[in-house]
Amino acid sequence: MKVLIVGSGGREHAIAWKVAQSPKVTKLYCAPGNAGIASIAECVDINVMDTQGILALAKEQGIGLVIIGPDNPLFAGMADVLRAAGIPTFGPSGAAAAIEGSKVFSKQLMAKYGIPTADFRVFDNALEARAYIEDLAKGSEELPIVVKADGLALGKGVYVCSTKTEAFKAIEDMMVDKVFGDAGDRILIEERLEGQEASLIVITDGENIAPLTPAQDYKRIHDFDKGPNTGGMGCYSPVPVVPQKLYDQCIETIIKPAIAAMKAEGRLYTGVLYTGIMLTKNGPSVIEFNARFGDPETQVMLPMLENDLVEVIEASLSGSLDSIGLKCYNGAAVCVIIASGGYPGKYETGKPISGLAEAGALAGVTIFHAGTKFDGDQIVTNGGRVLGVTAVGESFRAARNRAYEAVDLIKFDGMHYRHDIAARVIKD
Ligand code: AMP
Ligand code: GLY
Repeated sequence: MKVLIVGSGGREHAIAWKVAQSPKVTKLYCAPGNAGIASIAECVDINVMDTQGILALAKEQGIGLVIIGPDNPLFAGMADVLRAAGIPTFGPSGAAAAIEGSKVFSKQLMAKYGIPTADFRVFDNALEARAYIEDLAKGSEELPIVVKADGLALGKGVYVCSTKTEAFKAIEDMMVDKVFGDAGDRILIEERLEGQEASLIVITDGENIAPLTPAQDYKRIHDFDKGPNTGGMGCYSPVPVVPQKLYDQCIETIIKPAIAAMKAEGRLYTGVLYTGIMLTKNGPSVIEFNARFGDPETQVMLPMLENDLVEVIEASLSGSLDSIGLKCYNGAAVCVIIASGGYPGKYETGKPISGLAEAGALAGVTIFHAGTKFDGDQIVTNGGRVLGVTAVGESFRAARNRAYEAVDLIKFDGMHYRHDIAARVIKD
């Protein structure tokens, strides 16, 4: 079978790497891909939002399975268009992807079906939002609260506030200055939860689920969770604070109810469901649902998965996931992201990268490319997050040591990475 993967990030490289191991796959394509994906797939220069281009490629090449990586084409209904043309496609419909695409839809779904999440209110008017903040603060300056733009804001539309002034600034930015454009026309004001976060990712056929190992993501740019948020600077899996019993509880009280709720709402949910949870002192609470694999979570979850991913995906497409039991490696995986100088702010691209072959040759190490491309024969940087250096090992310590040993061999001008990925799970 010929398989086409849509996307160009580290997540898509990890998907391609796993799919390429399947004996069912005769040829792999990726649109548009990157320099790392090019070593295992034929990369075709089609933008991820070019649904008609993807459809034409799938028809031309007789593609038997399309896997859509990123959120935006899912929100735009790429899976609907491909399926309507008879092309087996892994990814939720546009209507189902609203579970990520509209935070208001997602929160209202959780409220309606009793899925635990932070209390919230929706506003489409800045004056009313300000009055609500005044009311909550009760004369105090201190106010732990979260303000979120409803629509798509490139992952930046969430302000985690500690004071009334910060909350007012968030409302001003979103609703008055419109720094996120139309995405700020409607906002959510949420109770601020405290605790550790975890990413729970399952594959679903709309009813049954196949859960991957949990992961923990490091969102801040600097060591010790300092500095601004990023797309994710590293990850590890499994997660000691989410033992199997707690995962099972999340499946029964959050994940299965959410999938059943989507079905009841006439938005049958198939594909990947990513649940971001906060482990509060009152139990797990949902921060967000995403309609796709996580990045960099995928770079640790797929190396932990022992099944043929294509078989799992086929079972999800045929509604027979209940016949598949996932087998996962009994050790650990750690991924360290190497980013361009300046990221998550402005950064330069085109910096030559050295040491990739030496680092990738280390036992247990796989280098997933994100923002890379070829400049002639040379691989150069081409994005903010450049590489995801993943290592597996029989323990967190072994996996972490291997990952950082590989990172030490890689060089490019301005590169930076966090030094504390998975440090918290290493016992002295
Ligand atoms: P989201 O885009 O909804 O995932 O939010 C981005 C990040 O903001 C999350 O990963 C959390 O770290 C933080 N966050 C979002 N909602 C809340 C909340 N209600 N309480 C505390 N932190 C939150
Ligand atoms: N790593 C966070 C995400 O993929 O949304």
